[in-house]
Amino acid sequence: TLIPVILSGGAGTRLWPMSRQLYPKQFLNLTGTEHTLLQATLARLPEADVAPPLIICNEAHRFLVAEQLRQMGVRPGGILLEPVGRNTAPAVAAAALCARASGEDPVLLVMPADHLIQDVDAFRRSVALAVEAARSGELVTFGVPPTEPHTGYGYIRVEAGAGAGAAPVREFVEKPDLDTARAYVASGQYYWNSGIFVFRASSFLEELKAHAPDILEACERAWAGARGDLDFLRLEPEAFSACRSESLDYAVMEPTRRAVMVPLEADWSDVGSWTALWSAGERDAEGNVAVGDVLLTGTRNCYLHADARLVAAVGVEDLVVVETKDAVLVMHKDHHQDVKEIVARLRADG
Ligand code: GDD
Ligand code: MG
Repeated sequence: TLIPVILSGGAGTRLWPMSRQLYPKQFLNLTGTEHTLLQATLARLPEADVAPPLIICNEAHRFLVAEQLRQMGVRPGGILLEPVGRNTAPAVAAAALCARASGEDPVLLVMPADHLIQDVDAFRRSVALAVEAARSGELVTFGVPPTEPHTGYGYIRVEAGAGAGAAPVREFVEKPDLDTARAYVASGQYYWNSGIFVFRASSFLEELKAHAPDILEACERAWAGARGDLDFLRLEPEAFSACRSESLDYAVMEPTRRAVMVPLEADWSDVGSWTALWSAGERDAEGNVAVGDVLLTGTRNCYLHADARLVAAVGVEDLVVVETKDAVLVMHKDHHQDVKEIVARLRADG
């Protein structure tokens, strides 16, 4: 069977002011559908031969996770709690150690809790192909055809004409600079890394041991000292906190020679910013996406999100306006990455 591992530890700072430290984006309903991003992630899991999911998140979010699972009628295999975020390499290592604790070596489907995927059937078909490849020890990543030189993604090159199945990864470059990303997209030979992975627990742990042994050691100590009550499993805080912070993309996917890629053409988007939500959203004839109580006239290509009050926009273009009870964001649509700076300043000011 396949064990889903849901990564739910991100901070979602670029979606301030909706996304807050104690209530980050994966727990929000940002699309106006019935589900939060975490719940939509659970809803798109394959239907057959799937074990209860393992969720890994920060200690502070345990009740949010438990409650959102309960609402879905999902009983977790476990909710692994991190005392602090150490990025995805340690998170996945801890989940792999936990999944292997039964003595078996299950195939893991690692999924970020904060993505949107519109075509669930296409996603499940790609996962089925990936599971086949993972059984024989490969580390499978999913490649999305790129539409712009986004520098927040990993880029993957496989041999040309590889087709729909799993193809060996020739090159994996995490977060290249803008010039490099432009060249990659122009070449037509690269895919975006979707951030979803399928591998056996042992395959991942072996590659981690080869390329980042210090991370594996810290996580082994944190797992050995883990304590549980109810569905919650707490990683031993001292050992886990001592671990280096690193993403699995840098720690394993770039250096490994066991990576293969399955194409994912399922209307995937990483809703990493307000502008990404605008792109992925339902636009009206003037190109606006409006969520909540919004009134518009003479307004084009804007994203407007009203949470607590009425938002009205008149004669503006290319703006993002996000209203909440205690903060309002007004931003040019091209500056979606710079929200981070406001959040950093807020944190520095306490
Ligand atoms: N449990 C846990 N703990 N989860 C975490 C942590 C952590 O410390 N840090 C991040 N996550 C979760 C996030 O919530 C998100 O769902 C996922 O892991 C990926 O982390 P991001 O921080 O969003 O990574 P990224 O977007 O910069 O880059 C990754 O995703 C891109 C596609 O969206 C990489 O895999 C890129 O190569 C990829 O292109
Ligand atoms: Mg992301």
